[in-house]
Amino acid sequence: MTLSPQFIDAVQDKPQALRTELVQGLLAAEPCVAAKYLYDTLGSRLFEAITELPEYYPTRCEAGIFAQHAPAMAALMPPAATLVDLGAGNCRKAAQLFDVIRPARYVAVDISVAFLRPALSSLQAAYPAIPMLGLGLDFSADLSLPAAAGDGARVLFYPGSSIGNFSPEQALAFLQQAHVASQGGGLLIGVDLHKDTAILEPAYDDALGVTAAFNRNVLLRLNLLTGSNFALADWQHVAFFNSQASRIEMHLQARAAVQVRWPGGERQFAQGQRIHTENSYKWQQADFAALLQRAGFSSTRAWTDTQGWFAVYWAQA
Ligand code: AVJ
Repeated sequence: MTLSPQFIDAVQDKPQALRTELVQGLLAAEPCVAAKYLYDTLGSRLFEAITELPEYYPTRCEAGIFAQHAPAMAALMPPAATLVDLGAGNCRKAAQLFDVIRPARYVAVDISVAFLRPALSSLQAAYPAIPMLGLGLDFSADLSLPAAAGDGARVLFYPGSSIGNFSPEQALAFLQQAHVASQGGGLLIGVDLHKDTAILEPAYDDALGVTAAFNRNVLLRLNLLTGSNFALADWQHVAFFNSQASRIEMHLQARAAVQVRWPGGERQFAQGQRIHTENSYKWQQADFAALLQRAGFSSTRAWTDTQGWFAVYWAQA
């Protein structure tokens, strides 16, 4: 039996709605751009490069945890489950778990179905008997899955500490939806933990400048989507740990006073003024376990690396 992957695009990208959202952010008292705009094709490639930087520890920590503990994780999962990969991208992390988890079905979910196509096609060639679905979906807003995702027990897979983009309130709302979507199974999720600022800050402000490029790329995206005239040279990457809120914040900071225009509007930015582009929350291990319980999961287990920098949780629905 040789299957081919199915694809469904449920992303409703109305250019006018994106433009309105972006312009609202630019005009706000505290200017901001939603973090999802960092992940266009170039942004996603730059993020992949970030994961290979010596300073960026989360990807390596998480890979080490899976390498050591995947069999113990798999033992807690229902057999023959549907593996639902949230933010699948190149599908590499899930693919590495296939031989241990042995899913009956694989659903790769990403905001960009275009990004999924080549990855899923080559994965299907390696696993010709596993039905595969590529689903374009902005699951940060709504995690309800279409009927094509199948009705088997579900294992939701949300690695990489992407949950860190959500505030604690947003994270709770997301996990409540994940609990509903994972009935009969559970959630396998990677979470970056609180640690020394001297480790955290270089991970988001690397010596090579890749994170700076990743952050500044959002200006190209803004120019494309709103018709604005941001000049890259005017804006500097800034990243720091906000210990009050327990999060890394990324901003773009004006090197000098600049006037930015777009069709129908403009804004003056003072020298040093910032546009907030991303948050990356860092959790205490026990606090995240408590959050999973509050979201409705019945039991949780966590595995960490030897340094205690990163955790992977299995949360039973
Ligand atoms: C993709 C959200 C997990 O927060 O570490 C990395 C994004 N931003 N460097 C993170 C990111 C800058 C990353 N997540």
